[in-house]
Amino acid sequence: MHIVVKDLWKVYRNNIVALRGVSFELVNDKLVILAGPNGAGKTTLIRIMDGEISPTKGYVSTNGLTPDEARLRGLFGVMPQEAQLHEYLTVREYLYYLALIKGLSRSDARKEVSKLIEDFMLH
Ligand SMILES: Nc1ncnc2c1ncn2[C@@H]1O[C@H](COP(=O)(O)OP(=O)(O)OP(=O)(O)O)[C@@H](O)[C@H]1O
Ligand SMILES: [Mg+2]
Repeated sequence: MHIVVKDLWKVYRNNIVALRGVSFELVNDKLVILAGPNGAGKTTLIRIMDGEISPTKGYVSTNGLTPDEARLRGLFGVMPQEAQLHEYLTVREYLYYLALIKGLSRSDARKEVSKLIEDFMLH
C-alpha cells in the first residue's frame, strides 16, 4: 500500500478549519495509528481518504488512485467502533451479511463464514 497525502485542508461550511495542510506518506506500513484529541480532525481525514467527503484543497492518493477509485476497487475496509449486533441474526447470518457488504459473492461469503466459524470455534 502506498498512501500519499499532500497539503490537505478541510474547511467546513461553518468556517471550522478541521485540517490545516496535513501531509504524510505511508509506504508498506502494516499498522498506523491515528491519535489526537477530540476535534483534532481524525474522522475528517479518514472520510476524505476513503472518498466520503472532498477536501477543500490538497491531494490524496492510495496506490496512485484517487479516493473514489480506491474505494471502488475495495481498497478500504471499515471496522465499526461498536459492533452493531442485530438481535435477530445468528452469528452465521451476521458474518454472511458483513461478507456481502465487503463485496464477496454469495458462494464465497458462505465459504468464508464457515471457515471463520470453524477457525474461531463458534459452533
Ligand atoms: N460535518 C461537519 N460540519 C462542520 N464541522 C464539522 C463537521 N464534522 C466535523 N466538524 C468539525 O471539524 C473539527 C474536526 O472534527 P473531526 O470529527 O474530524 O475530529 P476527530 O479527531 O475525529 O474528533 P473525535 O476524537 O471527537 O472523533 C471539529 O472542530 C468538528 O467540530
Ligand atoms: Mg472522530
